[in-house]
Amino acid sequence: MQILNILILILTLLPIKLFTEGSGEHDALGRKLFELKCAYCHGEKGDGMGLAQGFIDPQPTDLTSGVYKIRTTETGSIPTDSDISRTITKGIHGSAMPAWAPFITGDSLGAIVDYVKSLSSRFKEETTQKIIVGRAIASSERSISNGRKIYNELECYDCHGEDGTSKGDDVFELEDDMEREIKAANLTEPWTFKGGSASKDIYIRLVTGMNGTPMPSYDETVSERQLWDLANYVVALARKPVWEMSADELSVFYSALEGEAIADPIERGKYLVETLGCVHCHTPFDKNEMMMKEFEMAGGALFSIGPWGDIVTRNLTSDKETGLGNATDEQIKEAITRGIKINGERMLPFPMGWPAYAGLSDYDLNALIDYLRSIPPIYNKIPDVKKKNPIAYLWAKFDMLILKNPMLFGEPPGNSGDPNKPADM
Ligand code: HEC
Ligand code: HEC
Ligand code: HEC
Repeated sequence: MQILNILILILTLLPIKLFTEGSGEHDALGRKLFELKCAYCHGEKGDGMGLAQGFIDPQPTDLTSGVYKIRTTETGSIPTDSDISRTITKGIHGSAMPAWAPFITGDSLGAIVDYVKSLSSRFKEETTQKIIVGRAIASSERSISNGRKIYNELECYDCHGEDGTSKGDDVFELEDDMEREIKAANLTEPWTFKGGSASKDIYIRLVTGMNGTPMPSYDETVSERQLWDLANYVVALARKPVWEMSADELSVFYSALEGEAIADPIERGKYLVETLGCVHCHTPFDKNEMMMKEFEMAGGALFSIGPWGDIVTRNLTSDKETGLGNATDEQIKEAITRGIKINGERMLPFPMGWPAYAGLSDYDLNALIDYLRSIPPIYNKIPDVKKKNPIAYLWAKFDMLILKNPMLFGEPPGNSGDPNKPADM
């Protein structure tokens, strides 16, 4: 078994170049890259059922469906090759989909785009219906105020709210085509837009809609000119991002938030723990794959990860002996943002994708910790599991933590590690 494990490990670490030789090289390269970089989330078959599915929200796209959010094609149409390669290169803000720009380029990018297309029969049966983007209307006071009228006329407020924040009691509760809860974008935070935040990006999104989600296409509802005005209005809705605010602006901004998160960091922490997947991983499952509510956040879920062996999630409740009760705030922060366990050992960058948490703001980190501390203690001692294959495990650590070879994750999009910058969510 040991030898087989090491063999598998060596195979996964082989330089990509080996696969570029021989016939059918293009297809083989695409498949290999997909298995290495994408299957973890999108599943071996591309059906969205990868290992990480269930831990992340929004969930990975089912690529066999051929239904795409980010396109420059008519609503209902399949995307163009450059739409797909743009998504792969830039990632999708506000989701776990990483920006692969530095790691997948040139021939590799072409091969993986073709492989992604081969996953859905729609690409064989249909042709892309590209939209034509006419001349942009420059932003001006007049254009913006026209845009505001169109916003009301088209009832964008039903989903995005009167003020564009998508919050409030009047805003519709929404589901995507898979009947999963989905939130309309906060239009005052354009850096969270999935398809880009320039007026042209927004114009395109208004024409194409975002298939698979409730965001409709507004093609031919109003004139092209009016859609540009609307896009200019959306751009004008942007508030200043926190990381560009002066100290005075920050204090005004945060006191305005008082009614919400600031007033209740524990609520904010709970929200983060749920949306960032902490609960799903740090709670054990019973034989019927049901989460064991009585052990919520008490750890004990087992991840068997190929040659690297078994990794068990830790107890995050406030229990002093078996949980985080005796850990300092600093230790917990190091674990969440740098992958350093309370006992000082370093974690692999998976299954817990801590590099993606490195960009959490101080406020969010403290809220998370406040919430963890508020969880009643549950005694659940997590054994130190023997590594199936210590050599493979240590090599993986060396490869990923010291050589920093990207195995699964690139730098998550929007993650600059700037402490003032909010996490994309
Ligand atoms: C860490 C998890 C993760 C990995 C790894 C990952 N993706 Fe994704 N991907 C996602 C998520 C989540 C979404 C859905 C985002 C959304 O719906 O807003 C997504 C969406 C997509 C989409 C659909 C975009 C659209 O317009 O709807 C494509 C195409 C895609 N990924 C390709 C890839 C490829 C190719 C790779 C490997 C190079 C990859 N992904 C690796 C998480 C991942
Ligand atoms: C029925 C509900 C609904 C209506 C009506 C609606 N939207 Fe949306 N919109 C959404 C949802 C849901 C998303 C987020 C989709 C996602 O993140 O996958 C979204 C996303 C967006 C985005 C972000 C695009 C991106 O790249 O991420 C913009 C901009 C936007 N909507 C503008 C508008 C404007 C302007 C109108 C009115 C013309 C409008 N929406 C009407 C539901 C709606
Ligand atoms: C995909 C599964 C997964 C997700 C999501 C996840 N974790 Fe973890 N976490 C783990 C695993 C597995 C370990 C143990 C790693 C090891 O022992 O090498 C761990 C370890 C930790 C530790 C170290 C505890 C100790 O005793 O050393 C902390 C703290 C932690 N996680 C907090 C969080 C928080 C907070 C979140 C959400 C923001 C989160 N985790 C999300 C799987 C996950």
